[in-house]
Amino acid sequence: MTRGSFSPEFLEELKSRNEIVDVASKYMTLNRRGANFWACCPFHMEKTPSFSIKQDGQFYKCFGCGESGNVIGLVMKLENVDFPTAVEMLCKNAGMQMPNEVDNEEMRRKKHERERAYQILKATTDFYHNNLLQNPQSAQAQYLKKRGINDAMIKKFQIGASLNYKDLPKHLLNLGFKTTEMISAGVAGKGDNDIYDFYGSRLMFPIFNGFGDVVAYSGRSVEENPDRTKYKNTPQTIVFNKSEILFGYNFVRDLKKAHMLDTIIVVEGHIDVIACHQYGLDNTIGCMGTALTSLHARKIKQLVDHVILCLDGDSAGALATYKAIDTLKEVGLDVKVVRLVGAKDPDEFLKKFGKEKFVELLSNGQDCVDFVLKDSAQKYNLNSNADRNKYIQEALNYISKFSTQAEQEIYLSELQKIVRVPIDALRKSMNTTDVVVVSKAEDEITDTAQNNYITESKIMLLASMLYKKITNLNEISGLFVGDDELSKLYVFLSDKIENNKVYNVSTLFDNFEIDSKSLIDRVINYVFPADDVYENFLKDTIKRVKLLELQQLYDTVKRKMLDSTTDEDRYTYLNQLNKLKNKINKEK
Ligand code: UTP
Ligand code: MN
Repeated sequence: MTRGSFSPEFLEELKSRNEIVDVASKYMTLNRRGANFWACCPFHMEKTPSFSIKQDGQFYKCFGCGESGNVIGLVMKLENVDFPTAVEMLCKNAGMQMPNEVDNEEMRRKKHERERAYQILKATTDFYHNNLLQNPQSAQAQYLKKRGINDAMIKKFQIGASLNYKDLPKHLLNLGFKTTEMISAGVAGKGDNDIYDFYGSRLMFPIFNGFGDVVAYSGRSVEENPDRTKYKNTPQTIVFNKSEILFGYNFVRDLKKAHMLDTIIVVEGHIDVIACHQYGLDNTIGCMGTALTSLHARKIKQLVDHVILCLDGDSAGALATYKAIDTLKEVGLDVKVVRLVGAKDPDEFLKKFGKEKFVELLSNGQDCVDFVLKDSAQKYNLNSNADRNKYIQEALNYISKFSTQAEQEIYLSELQKIVRVPIDALRKSMNTTDVVVVSKAEDEITDTAQNNYITESKIMLLASMLYKKITNLNEISGLFVGDDELSKLYVFLSDKIENNKVYNVSTLFDNFEIDSKSLIDRVINYVFPADDVYENFLKDTIKRVKLLELQQLYDTVKRKMLDSTTDEDRYTYLNQLNKLKNKINKEK
């Protein structure tokens, strides 16, 4: 069961019977200050409370780490459980019945499709795994042997072999699965007049979700064939979302349940994860060669506060390290960095130098800001003034983004040693770094200024819908076209308002992915001007945004008109321009 299996009415009822302040105070000490309640954030380390609960909107927000959500989200995070489990716990708390019938046809169909996909993936995993065990002479089995992966790991990771293109679909048909179901689960592809094993003769690594169900595969080629991609991965399917799955997450989650986890090691490759586990480092997960997303980071933060990043030793690995630090720090994780020397990846390092050396390397992991300061210094020629300035800007930027006041002093003194500039000067420029504007072409500046204004205004209008339930919708509906986050929120809110449905801020968290970077977060935290000026402010905003959008459209059409090569095009654009001009004059 997922979020979508519960009706909005049921969720509203559940939340109204589980007052967020009551629930939260079971886990932490809350202090009332003004209209809100405050506590030290349970999701990141802090001494001054920045975790707040707004009682009227029934949601929490931490101004330190950016986490926010409603009472269901809070229980999910604190108890480290999924949505349905949190719902169940809150039902129990409020003496309510769990709804056992999902009442919507579409939902029932989706649920069925998902269940079939899980069954197919389970059957496929068993099939591949047996292939491997029963064919020790196969190229796949021989490759594993060559890479030194032992039987215990083959079992733990349910590693398997796809031996050809035709056996799997045949096997699944015999088990009663339909071809459409195989395709939608991501295990089969459609040929001209038949279907084939999507991975076709590869070494198969199943990818598990947090509960240990197989949701996807990575199939590694075992041939030295440069024309064949090294890995073939399952695309997005009904049960697999690449941006939230980490290889090995199910195993570290089990460690957490057994209270045996306080740090997670993040590596790149499948084989690296397996090698680490084989050497007893069971707290290792893999990002499967892609950039870590904020969803990944939040899933890690649900389990631990400390991460050791140990990506590949090459330059791509270095770049990925920088990006990963950003993403992981943003959710409040403590990040240490290990850069490998003498081996391209953790697997090779372990084989070449042994477990003891690797563990030593991990325990000497460099603090991530320290890493950034020292590593990025090497990109610049610090004897040139221009380069040195650029480096200082970059370094200050990292320091201000990632550290508390006390830490800042430590890092500044590190930086002072590298650049030999008095610490006072560094301190001063750090406080002014965010006003440094990189020079841009002039029209680019006005363009972004206008776009910012439009976005700000949309945020204000949506906040008005959310909190003040303003109803003059037809005036502003034209502003929210397209498929972006704010337009989706607009559609959602206008449906609630027009149809008189119950909602408040907490409802949003059941329907949108909201993190500290999302625009919806800004809508939720919008600060209104005083009541006496609000009405006029609202009117002015609507008017100005409409005008700006019309003007932007006018500029675009004008550019097209000037670029047009035929008289006919030119005439069409001129016509459009005239109409737009009339509209603009009317609005003014
Ligand atoms: P690597 O090329 O380092 O693969 O890519 P590896 O698994 O560590 O294998 P060896 O040790 O080099 O032989 C790291 C990860 O990037 C993803 C896979 O998840 C892989 O484990 N990747 C790589 C792909 O998804 N597709 C590719 O074509 C290559
Ligand atoms: Mn590798």
